Amino acid sequence: MKYLTAASRLLRHSSRNLSDHRSNLQFFCSIRPSSSGLSYTSLRSYEHLIQDDCFHRKITLKNICFRGSGVGILHCLPKFQSDGIRTHHRNLASTALIPERNKSFATINSDDISYFKKVLGGRGVVQDEEKLDDANTDWMRKYKGSSKLMLQPRKTQEVSQILDYCNSRCLAVVPQGGNTGLVGGSIPVYDEVIINIGSMNNVLSFDKVSGILVCEAGCILENLMSFLDNEGYIMPLDLGAKGSCQIGGNVSTNAGGLRLLRYGSLHGSVLGLEVVLANGTVLDMLGTLRKDNTGYDLKHLFIGSEGSLGIVTKVSILTPPMLSSVNLAFLACEDYLSCQKILVEAKTKLGEILSAFEFLDINAMDLVLKHLDGLRDPLPSSKHNFYVLIETTGSMESHDKEKLEAFLVQAIESGLLTDGVVAQDINQASSFWRIREGVPEALLKEGATYKYDLSLPPEKMYNLVEEMRQRLGTAANVVAYGHLGDGNLHLNISTQQYDDNILAKIEPFVYEWTSKQRGSISAEHGIGLMKASKLHYSNSAETVQVMAAIKKVLDPNGILNPYKVLPTPALSQT
Ligand code: FAD
Ligand code: MLT
Ligand code: ZN
Repeated sequence: MKYLTAASRLLRHSSRNLSDHRSNLQFFCSIRPSSSGLSYTSLRSYEHLIQDDCFHRKITLKNICFRGSGVGILHCLPKFQSDGIRTHHRNLASTALIPERNKSFATINSDDISYFKKVLGGRGVVQDEEKLDDANTDWMRKYKGSSKLMLQPRKTQEVSQILDYCNSRCLAVVPQGGNTGLVGGSIPVYDEVIINIGSMNNVLSFDKVSGILVCEAGCILENLMSFLDNEGYIMPLDLGAKGSCQIGGNVSTNAGGLRLLRYGSLHGSVLGLEVVLANGTVLDMLGTLRKDNTGYDLKHLFIGSEGSLGIVTKVSILTPPMLSSVNLAFLACEDYLSCQKILVEAKTKLGEILSAFEFLDINAMDLVLKHLDGLRDPLPSSKHNFYVLIETTGSMESHDKEKLEAFLVQAIESGLLTDGVVAQDINQASSFWRIREGVPEALLKEGATYKYDLSLPPEKMYNLVEEMRQRLGTAANVVAYGHLGDGNLHLNISTQQYDDNILAKIEPFVYEWTSKQRGSISAEHGIGLMKASKLHYSNSAETVQVMAAIKKVLDPNGILNPYKVLPTPALSQT
């Protein structure tokens, strides 16, 4: 009886909250004869669905809850300052840490421009001020370079010719993809030449049996998702920036995102790469084999190297099949301990169908509801300290529903969950994902953000957030969200504008705290410019020296993405 009461509480919330949304017939049909004897359905929504045959067919054939609004979040964001988004151009949160311009780098002259025009034609050589302003500015509007030239090659051979030339002239370059990076890695620090490979955007092959996709590195992630959708496959990674970020950028940052919990990191999914080195040498490592133990597996050096070792021009990636049954629950917990316990329960009880486990705290939720149009609190009856999104993906609707239902009922019963709702159609699932994926955009609209992306033991993670709140008092809003299932905390400190006094309270405290836990100061965003001088907090001096030595071998003149990833002193000692 107690069991039934708990379950009906969740489901009542569910139908009340969703009563004005279109519902998924297949969902209702599959769970109505549940073992608990409960019915999730209401006649009104069922009848409504039967009339809407077109929509019904769409979901039953492809019962996939696309994340986000169907387009990447960046499609909703103006590139330039408008819509209440403030601009804070600061190269680094602390200007004192910007390395001097390397005097050995040349500056571009008219002969250089003529050469590039000869290789690329006029269209691939961009000097237009507005376009350059865009390319010189990062997504957070925090870093701004002063490049006077952007090159847009269309072929690997062109990339090779450009790099060969730049290397011989000692012209520094910044590889740029979708420019959605969050650590100042994709924009020039000074006048580096921007090489954007967005024009290299063709799918080269797809093997329907193995699921192996080979494409050019400038393909936008969301376009690859759409391509695979037609083939019955999905990309093994998904992130809020999918509408703009490129697969080459994803590989170069070793992007994590929402599916890492299920499909692992790109070090596992990427099977091969084509990379152009600083001197123009093309490394063909574009294998399509799952097993290949022939010497050093060099492609791994380039995964996550943030454009500092070479330009990725082609990618071969293993993609998982699209499964027919996807469910998404938006849940509330009163305290962080309950979030952890729910994670353990989800891993054991949902097992093989668990495909995402994300969290946001009340501060993050409040910001999203304040800034993002058209979003409503899915659990409006009261405020909750923590929100958790649990997604399941499997191949048998009835089995998956039964598992999820049993899990949720038990979680309510044991008091771990205080409220919750299960998405009942694709629109609702999208709006739940939009809440989670919309936090960075909401932060951007709120003002300045000090953004930290940490790997920490989950049981310690939220202690840092609380300590930070104590340190900063009312001076800032400390916002936490992230990929809890992967031990990845996004700690964001939001203020009206950047202020060195606030920064001094945050850093080095945040890095020292992380280091003490043997955590990582970059779980997924990378090091870029922001953390090049902080690398030692997560890596020993010897490790950093080996990294610098590798950089020296592959890029002796240091033209590739200078001032990023590695601390300048480590490079000069090598
Ligand atoms: P860019 O930003 O253009 O570049 C990033 C770095 O890669 C730079 O150092 C650049 O020099 C280098 N680079 C780019 N292309 C190449 C290339 N072809 N060859 C060599 N180097 C190259 N990241 C996550 O990991 N997980 C998330 O969940 C996530 N969510 C995000 C949500 C939002 C709203 C935003 C704005 C960003 C998010 N990010 C996330 C960060 C960012 O989207 C990722 O790092 C992404 O992989 C960057 O891809 P990009 O094409 O935009 O690369
Ligand atoms: C996310 O998970 O939302 C992204 O990594 C972006 C961010 O941390 O702001
Ligand atoms: Zn993230």
